[in-house]
Amino acid sequence: MGIKIIATGRYVPERVLTNADLEKMVETSDEWIRTRTGIETRHIADASQATSDMCREAAKNALEMAGIAPSELGAIVVATITPDHSFPNTACLLQEEIGAKNAFCFDLSAACSGLIYSLVTAQALMKMTPNLKYVLVLGAEKLSSIVDWDDRNTCVLFGDGAAAVILEKTDDGNDSIKAYNLGADGACKDILFMPAGGSRMPASLESVQNRKHFINMTGKEVFKFAVNAMVSSSQQAMTDAGVAPDDIKFLVPHQANYRILKAVAQRLDIPEERVYMNLNRYGNTSAASIGLCLDEMVRNNLLQKGDKVLLTAFGGGLTWGSIVLEW
Ligand code: COA
Repeated sequence: MGIKIIATGRYVPERVLTNADLEKMVETSDEWIRTRTGIETRHIADASQATSDMCREAAKNALEMAGIAPSELGAIVVATITPDHSFPNTACLLQEEIGAKNAFCFDLSAACSGLIYSLVTAQALMKMTPNLKYVLVLGAEKLSSIVDWDDRNTCVLFGDGAAAVILEKTDDGNDSIKAYNLGADGACKDILFMPAGGSRMPASLESVQNRKHFINMTGKEVFKFAVNAMVSSSQQAMTDAGVAPDDIKFLVPHQANYRILKAVAQRLDIPEERVYMNLNRYGNTSAASIGLCLDEMVRNNLLQKGDKVLLTAFGGGLTWGSIVLEW
């Protein structure tokens, strides 16, 4: 038995928010944003679009590439921290939208590490479930719905989007995921979180007035943590897969900040030309970011059979994770 990635898909909303647009909203500059983060534009969903709507477009895209019908999906997993509702889960909403009536459905919350956590979870489920042939995994976020557009420390960083991956169980013994490493540290929960809207602090007039329903971040600490976590997790995944940095065709890191990505690549001894980046166009799309990269790479024919790809991410929780893929 082998679990293979057979298709990818993506969707980003039409509306583009530029650094020049942000200059009119908060006290910032294109120069500051570009030099501190590498971000130039991000896509922002309109008021009528929720996360499941973006998932639908990315899923259709991936199903078309896979050449399978929605009814053939045995499970749908949506990695997100911006679900349409607390419940029902976003995967159920998507199931109905695309007519995947034979799929069981759940969301997975691991912030920006969500797609990596979900791919590992999907592979494990497929290994232990006899009739699970196709699983649809998505990373999708409408971060614009939880960004404080008056806070220059955070609002310049994030964007919206959805990315899909379809896994198939095949008869040969080769898995796409050669090795993985996942980790978490709840002691760092307060450096990247949203204070209100859950059972700890339900929505109230006070929580809204005190701006508690937005992303709250201690940027410098997150930066340091991100570099260390992605480097050590990547090294462990490479060791477990029996590969060296030279064997990696592409490093695909969570698209948080150009300076973070550069530091990770340097410490892993992977030259920058082998690091895939699109954060200049999309900003940080949390769980969607690695999937948006993968789909661009697939559709631009950057990946050949046998290529080794290293995915690595970190996010709120804090969580982190890495996967060595063989394409
Ligand atoms: N425009 C202009 N100035 C800004 C600004 C903006 N958009 N945002 C912050 N500043 C200011 C700060 O207020 C600070 O001013 P002060 O010195 O007067 O207090 C100054 O710029 C420098 O801030 P500093 O924190 O030193 O910047 P930095 O080099 O650490 O970069 C981040 C800030 C947020 C870009 C960086 O810390 C980062 O990327 N952290 C990780 C964030 C992340 O990836 N989050 C998502 C995780 S999934």
